[in-house]
Amino acid sequence: MKLLVCGGAGFIGSAFVRRRLAATDDTVVVLDKLTYAGNLANLTDVEAEHGPSGRYRFAHGDIADPEVVDELVVGGDTDAVVNFAAESHVDRSILDAEAFLRTGVLGVHVLLEATRRLAEARNGAGRRPRFLQVSTDEVYGSVPEGKALETDPLAPQSPYSAAKAAGELLVQAYRSTHGLDIVMTRGANTYGPRQHPEKLVPLFVTNALQGFQLPLYGDGLQRRDWLHVDDHADAVGIVLDAGEGGGIYNVPGTGERTNLELTETILRLLDQPRSLIRRVEDRPGHDRRYAMDGGQIATLGWQHAVGFDDGLAGTVAWYRDNEAWWHPLLDGDWRAYYDRQYGRRLAESVDA
Ligand code: NAD
Ligand code: DAU
Repeated sequence: MKLLVCGGAGFIGSAFVRRRLAATDDTVVVLDKLTYAGNLANLTDVEAEHGPSGRYRFAHGDIADPEVVDELVVGGDTDAVVNFAAESHVDRSILDAEAFLRTGVLGVHVLLEATRRLAEARNGAGRRPRFLQVSTDEVYGSVPEGKALETDPLAPQSPYSAAKAAGELLVQAYRSTHGLDIVMTRGANTYGPRQHPEKLVPLFVTNALQGFQLPLYGDGLQRRDWLHVDDHADAVGIVLDAGEGGGIYNVPGTGERTNLELTETILRLLDQPRSLIRRVEDRPGHDRRYAMDGGQIATLGWQHAVGFDDGLAGTVAWYRDNEAWWHPLLDGDWRAYYDRQYGRRLAESVDA
């Protein structure tokens, strides 16, 4: 297949591209705007291995730009559009939601329109282009007990998850109205190498490596279900190949943990003192718990390959060994963001 992978220079998208090129004969074009979260260093090995044969190519651009997207989707005679592109950090969506809506709603619309035009141009001859939207468990909102099913109502609580839910609804509308072949995944909290240091696991690992404090929101008893990035990437691949048209697939993690338990495990792995943990003012609208039922994706043959203990130890080791990857990200805009997000919180923090 010829794939257009949007947001392929980010954390999960780059893992998908790397693993897809290794496991199939597909060709991949990555379209990425290279926001603060996009990083070409995530694709250096992919470029070296698959660039010369023409199986991989990078295109710099915005999914909300119809000219760029049309040229790649329709002009490129794409077989599938796999959309990872999004603003992905909840805390930033609380500070300023505009880019979340622009990419998550208008950008998704531009991709859907181009896919519709391609389907019409093929007019029944040749493969029907498939559209895969990578979504999130956050669209369910907090799940106080039990596990969310794909048929449960959407109840997003943050501007980030509201933008993701809006994107989902638009994707479904293009199936109902225009007959597009769409599938979607709703992934759990993902961790692993090459995740931007703004997110909990890499933030706490890189802070601990530098002897900095770890700002734990509220009582730290919020529960998340952690999924390794390679398992998430493979789930997207399986849904792309075998998902039923119109299907939505939860991609759960390997088990729930409180943020406090996770933080203590990270500190143990790094042999750093528990006194680094600081309890800070909570995130507004903070979802208490995420949990999803994985029965639907299991029917496609997907299961986890990476257990949590091995996955977390490998991730911590990766950050310890790859300071050259993450240290350059802690400059310029990052300092301003860190001060805005954590300056007052840490000044007013208490012992955990
Ligand atoms: P990320 O922030 O690491 O990467 C996002 C990528 O999208 C970046 O490379 C960025 O440059 C690119 N991008 C942003 N806006 C763009 C635009 N307008 N046009 C083109 N490219 C653009 O995010 P991630 O953690 O890899 O998440 C990828 C997807 O998976 C997102 O859609 C996110 O909502 C979803 N998701 C993430 C998680 C998680 O725990 N990280 C879990 C479930 C679902
Ligand atoms: O669940 C899937 C989602 O997981 C994805 O859709 C998002 O793109 C991804 O960012 C992630 O969202 P979370 O908000 O769950 O992840 P984050 O790493 O920001 O936070 C994880 C938990 O840790 C959450 O309960 C908030 C808490 N936290 C986070 C940070 C950054 C802290 O206590 N302190 C922090 O400094």
